[in-house]
Amino acid sequence: MPKINFTKLAKKSVRSSAAYSSARSLVRDASIFLDANENAFGSVLPKISNVDLSRYPDPLAQKLREQFGKFVGASKDKILVGNGSDEIIWLLLLAFVEADEEILTFTPTFSMYRVFAELLGLRVREVALEADYSLDAAKFLKQISAKTKLIFLCSPNNPTGQVLPQAQLEQILRTGKLVVLDEAYIEFAPEKSTVDLLRKFPNLIILRTFSKAWGLAGLRVGCGLMDAAAIAVLQKVRAPYSVDALSQKLALDALANSKKMQATVKKILAEKEKLAAKLWERGLIVFPSDANFLLVRFPAEVSASRVQKNLLEKFGIVVRDFSHKKFLENCVRITVGTSAENSKLLLALSKILK
Ligand SMILES: Cc1ncc(COP(=O)(O)O)c(C=O)c1O
Repeated sequence: MPKINFTKLAKKSVRSSAAYSSARSLVRDASIFLDANENAFGSVLPKISNVDLSRYPDPLAQKLREQFGKFVGASKDKILVGNGSDEIIWLLLLAFVEADEEILTFTPTFSMYRVFAELLGLRVREVALEADYSLDAAKFLKQISAKTKLIFLCSPNNPTGQVLPQAQLEQILRTGKLVVLDEAYIEFAPEKSTVDLLRKFPNLIILRTFSKAWGLAGLRVGCGLMDAAAIAVLQKVRAPYSVDALSQKLALDALANSKKMQATVKKILAEKEKLAAKLWERGLIVFPSDANFLLVRFPAEVSASRVQKNLLEKFGIVVRDFSHKKFLENCVRITVGTSAENSKLLLALSKILK
């Protein structure tokens, strides 16, 4: 696919603005830093994980990008680190979509694409997934128009759990539109990440996160993989220090422990199989899942939202109620817990359903 002129694709106001350049992004190797009005006498807190919190973080997250790049097999200049992948979703909308342009996604999917787009006053066009939550690619492609600026695809999809087949992804990429592929749950899927496709499709933007398989939701670190020219546009709308120093360091430490992440993923997948089988035994419909959660539909005579309420009020167990959402009627989403947590959930369910 030919090179893309990302500057031309950026919003007019972004095109004409200059990226904020902090002194610290230009110089990091000096002995005395008197440029950023920090507290030279030090922090009120001691160093944590060897991070001096009195100093601003590296605005370019150089080390983290380098190591994450090695981990996923992409060059550092194609990686942007964000305050969670949520920040990168926000930046993409902010930088690329004009008020009279649209975003296109399918439904049901992760709600933040819509939430952020609507906050920016943008129009969201949605294509309904089929009854088994697969995508009819032809139906989807028909909705692409001159107004479509960003396409959001989530794979494995939250909350339905399934991976988007690569052939369909490529079909959508061949339209030349900017395609954001949110791979928040990819570590749990049998399929590999689509990182290799970045070389073939400069219009592909992949989102990854440390919040799920890495078990670091509290850190707020996510990564966007994309053409370096797209990153240059996002840098213009990004707050310079959105990823703090401790988070950068701890995400780096996590990457050095990737074996542990992989071992945990295995455990979660084994628990998922056991939980799914038990839920089926209780007469519930469990949709196939390539992620760390199960979408479960209750039989018509049982109200999913009543079950959700009972689980919380009588047993202190929280699951996500989607029962009133279109296409997710009478469904809840259950995150796979530890073996003990899943047993408690199953016991509670059997009491509620009795
Ligand atoms: C599909 C999807 N994308 C992105 C996110 C946000 O991830 P982060 O914690 O990196 O902001 C989530 C969180 O639930 C998610 O489900």
